[in-house]
Amino acid sequence: MPYHECFATDVSKIVGALPSEVVVMNQLTVNLHLLMTSFYRPTKERFKIICEKKPFPSDSYAFESQARLHGFDPAEAVIEIDYSDGYYTSTQQIIDTINQHANELAVVIIGGVNYYNGQLYNMKAITEATHKTGAYCGFDLAHAAGNAALELHNWNVDFACWCSYKYLNSGPGSVAGAFVHEKHHKSNLPRMAGWWGHNKENRFKMEPGFSPIESAEGWQLSNAPIFSMAAHRASVAIFAEAGMEALTAKSKQLTGYLEFCLNQINTNNSFKIITPANPAERGCQLSLLFNDKGREVFDALTANGVIADWRNPNVIRIAPVPLYNTFGDCYRFAKIVAEII
Ligand SMILES: Cc1ncc(COP(=O)(O)O)c(C=O)c1O
Repeated sequence: MPYHECFATDVSKIVGALPSEVVVMNQLTVNLHLLMTSFYRPTKERFKIICEKKPFPSDSYAFESQARLHGFDPAEAVIEIDYSDGYYTSTQQIIDTINQHANELAVVIIGGVNYYNGQLYNMKAITEATHKTGAYCGFDLAHAAGNAALELHNWNVDFACWCSYKYLNSGPGSVAGAFVHEKHHKSNLPRMAGWWGHNKENRFKMEPGFSPIESAEGWQLSNAPIFSMAAHRASVAIFAEAGMEALTAKSKQLTGYLEFCLNQINTNNSFKIITPANPAERGCQLSLLFNDKGREVFDALTANGVIADWRNPNVIRIAPVPLYNTFGDCYRFAKIVAEII
């Protein structure tokens, strides 16, 4: 079976897309740049990129460099939406910011789940608000793919990209994914071209004149990293078998239970959970904001065999993953934290 067909059905179920709208290729930041080449088409009037507060640094660098590439000053072109309350950004705040810049806006690109605080944004509402201004809307789903219920096609999202080495369990640096809505497949959006995006029927005729595949595959450049795709293939098959509906249902219970356990043991206010408490606004990540002792707590967790994640300057991220974590894991984790703090 051609390798795209090996992935398309399973990956499209994970992100809520048509099989023709997804493609497995490259790494996340590379895909972000490739998609921005098509969807960030700034003019003198409309050149702004709106993103969430504190996007992942690689995304910030991509936005800055894309602005520069088109001759704009990143300080003017890139707008981070402010938090509206503590570390939280309300959907209204996002929509208000989009409206405020409506006439200068080229593209909105938000991390579907923010890497730092774990907030899951209302992608449907953001896409609608963006489209009303005439701009394109895309998402970085590094922390959302395989973690949250997604409906990229129905939400009318223009483009998205994600990596496979977090929730999608495909190994460090493994191959990434991209989504391009079918409404753009036959468009004449400019893009970077390479032989793997060229029509399959005559790809090996080895002739000049790029003619893109009329699907997300048309954004491919190069032939595929087969070893990393083999691991990814095995992983997405498990996701397809388990089903995102069942996984997100268990995820909500597990995460709620972990939050409950942590609130029970946090009697001396050693930390604050900055991830929204509303299950509709998070996946399974909880971000614990510490004072100056955070790093010591993290090191003690590691010494106790807990694999958590440290994000400078002061956050420990944990994720009870529904595919393989248990309620017992959550209880044990909270008990270890209690002993440390
Ligand atoms: C939100 C987000 N964007 C971008 C990246 C960078 O990914 P890559 O190294 O595949 O380009 C990461 C990696 O952790 C990420 O979490």
